[in-house]
Amino acid sequence: MLFDQKIAIIGGSSGIGFALAQTAADAGADVIIGSSSQAKLEGALAGFKERVEGRLIDVTNEESVSEFFAKIGEVDHVAVTVGASYEPALVVNSDLSESQNPFLFKYWGQFLVAKHAGPRLTVGGSITLTSGILSQSPAKKLAVQASVNAAVEALGRTLAVELAPRRANVVCPGFIDTGKLLAEVAPPQRAAQLLELKGSHLPVQRVGQPKDAAAAYIFCMENPYVTGQVLFVDGGSLLT
Ligand SMILES: NC(=O)c1ccc[n+]([C@@H]2O[C@H](COP(=O)([O-])OP(=O)(O)OC[C@H]3O[C@@H](n4cnc5c(N)ncnc54)[C@H](OP(=O)(O)O)[C@@H]3O)[C@@H](O)[C@H]2O)c1
Repeated sequence: MLFDQKIAIIGGSSGIGFALAQTAADAGADVIIGSSSQAKLEGALAGFKERVEGRLIDVTNEESVSEFFAKIGEVDHVAVTVGASYEPALVVNSDLSESQNPFLFKYWGQFLVAKHAGPRLTVGGSITLTSGILSQSPAKKLAVQASVNAAVEALGRTLAVELAPRRANVVCPGFIDTGKLLAEVAPPQRAAQLLELKGSHLPVQRVGQPKDAAAAYIFCMENPYVTGQVLFVDGGSLLT
């Protein structure tokens, strides 16, 4: 169903977004990867033979977001998988500007993408945002991540109402192994340690892979009766 559809993936140069770009291109879509780093963009594009192009975009800068969507024009589906690093801290020990940073990237970044992509979505088109499982399960030192994810989920539901009949959804990943955690450990030991740390307690008894998350964005794009939803891809972590 995505054959010949135009799909923009903001944050598609690595991790979940890159897996989504691969899945969408395999399905015959014309994919535009957006990323803020020329080097990362070139690295990502080297993994594709056709149907995928790259464009620079900085979601923290409205002019950059506006230019990106003005250049690509009408688009069928947009997914945002932008992430930002964050130093965990108890609320009582937190630094305000450090705590505001994830909102700048992950909330206001997705807000700006929705603002400028919304008017260019085809009828039948969709936008899919990204939150994270911390929106549902509190953990010490992660109040900011929990809050930004909850805010993104509220934004997604509002967009579903405002952009209708275009659709808006949010994918909420649990732990997905994008290679960053325990990166310094050699592969066989890393797999075992990762399973122990992040997978063995889950109902599915394994860690999530980027393609597991990618499949959720594809579902949100393809199913014309799904809007205003938060789709959890967490291996059942909320049940434990
Ligand atoms: N992986 C997990 O376990 C997990 C769990 C829960 C939620 N999530 C959420 O899922 C999303 C993707 O996670 P991931 O692990 O795939 O992260 P990732 O590999 O770090 O990918 C993040 C992407 O965002 C792009 N980006 C960063 N700053 C940007 C900016 N200013 N403008 C445009 N693009 C920018 C990065 O590309 P450039 O650096 O090239 O710009 C990169 O392509 C994040 O929102 C994350 O919080 C992930």
